[in-house]
Amino acid sequence: MTYLALYRAWRPQRFMEVVGQEKTVIALRNALCEGRLSHAYLFSGPRGTGKTSIAKIIAKAVNCVNLEQGEPCNQCSSCHDINNGNFMDVIEIDAASNRGIDEIRDLREKVRVLPAQGKHKVYIIDEVHMLTTEAFNALLKTLEEPPESVIFILATTELQKIPATIRSRCQSYNFRRLSTAEIIARLEEVADSGGIKLEPEALQIIARRANGGLRDALSTLDQIYSYKGNDVNKADVQEVLGLVDDVFLAKLIDAAIDRNTGAVIDMLNTALSQGKEAQQLAREASLYLRDLLLYLVIGEQAEWSVVSEGSRPILEKQKLKIDKNQILKALRILTDTTDKLRFSEGQKFLLELAFLQIASLFEDQVIPVTAASTNVPKRSKTAARSEQVVKSGRAEAGDPLWGKILTGVKDKKIPTHALLVQGRLLGNKENTFYVGYKKGYKFHKEKMEEKENREIVKTVLKEIMGKECEIQFIFLDDDQYNDIIVKKAIEFFGEDIVEIKD
Ligand SMILES: Nc1ncnc2c1ncn2[C@@H]1O[C@H](COP(=O)(O)OP(=O)(O)OP(=O)(O)O)[C@@H](O)[C@H]1O
Ligand SMILES: [Mg+2]
Ligand SMILES: [Zn+2]
Repeated sequence: MTYLALYRAWRPQRFMEVVGQEKTVIALRNALCEGRLSHAYLFSGPRGTGKTSIAKIIAKAVNCVNLEQGEPCNQCSSCHDINNGNFMDVIEIDAASNRGIDEIRDLREKVRVLPAQGKHKVYIIDEVHMLTTEAFNALLKTLEEPPESVIFILATTELQKIPATIRSRCQSYNFRRLSTAEIIARLEEVADSGGIKLEPEALQIIARRANGGLRDALSTLDQIYSYKGNDVNKADVQEVLGLVDDVFLAKLIDAAIDRNTGAVIDMLNTALSQGKEAQQLAREASLYLRDLLLYLVIGEQAEWSVVSEGSRPILEKQKLKIDKNQILKALRILTDTTDKLRFSEGQKFLLELAFLQIASLFEDQVIPVTAASTNVPKRSKTAARSEQVVKSGRAEAGDPLWGKILTGVKDKKIPTHALLVQGRLLGNKENTFYVGYKKGYKFHKEKMEEKENREIVKTVLKEIMGKECEIQFIFLDDDQYNDIIVKKAIEFFGEDIVEIKD
């Protein structure tokens, strides 16, 4: 028995069946009705949003013997053969698999041969951005003198990689990501017709994860269906996709905000021992924070990426305990950690470190967003912060002190600023400030060590700190970035005030 993947079984066969992409669909249908199709189209947009599907509908429509209101009939022999991939005059070229030079050469030879079977030859070139320059040039020549009765449809996910010469010879359509609601509606239709029962929250997770692409949504449904049968709930989806439950994420962030570090470590241990991936945990936690941030900024209009009914009440409370800046800092910590986790062995340690850093963002008493604007004048709050940074000798992400130093240096000498800005302030130990450079910035580091540049920084430090300060430049080893930066930081500042920053 052959099983046809859902996304293939559900390929739209006519314009009517296409989800979204209204403008494109209307324009193309009108052109087909009025018989004024262009000889070359360029479809661009994210994966799985309907480019190839629409290209095939056009191919059918121009060859269909019963075209009705711009729609192919899907009954006549041309439509049939095209649907089955047996139609000689519809030629699909996948530029990704062979970069196309032979195909394009072949195309140039054969393009002038009249259609063998139908009215129009249609060339569909997928992933066209992958063509070699040579192949592009060959294609360009053909597009410059388009033979009668040939239609080119180029499709790409990366419009910016298409040469302007090609673009200017095509009619361009941008395909948009489909909304979560559109994806949900189609998934419901598919599930219904296949007798699959999907809990609404399960449906929602699949749709959100698809990130606007219907193919991914349908593939996910397929995958879950084959593991879990036709009764699917939220936990099934989370399990198959290896996702972390949003209520768990909400509680984890809550523990960090309350600086309940014991609970944070416990929760991380539990999740990891249940087989969750460290990187996934970091990524999902950032999605949760992203939801929280959006909620703070635009309120009810926020489209959630992980928050659901279950975590919503916790989110409501967190809204009062955290401010935008803290979320941004926490996000920064998590994205850095996600990056590092890709290369690192010390997975658990890095993850713990990240959440402890996040917890440390809440060391000062948190002023609720609403109260902050009533009592505390903004400036004094900022001033208090930078003072605190200096006192504890810890340089924070987006550190105001680093900002001040850079501005001061820039005012004095722009070239020095250009060298300094490539480094990062690690922090200070008493009167010595440490700036780290990644390995590739040897030149910058050495230049900064020269007397003149060093003096400029020292002068600026003196202006800011009101006392003589020293400056040291050190290397952060790129290859073993994680370990070394941690070791170096511990070495320099002592265990209790180590914080990794970018
Ligand atoms: N707009 C849409 N309407 C209905 N189904 C869609 C749509 N977009 C994608 N699909 C579903 O996803 C499958 C793949 O779509 P299609 O091949 O058209 O995507 P694509 O945009 O060409 O993607 P890629 O860039 O990866 O080639 C279709 O068979 C269909 O099941
Ligand atoms: Mg495609
Ligand atoms: Zn037909």
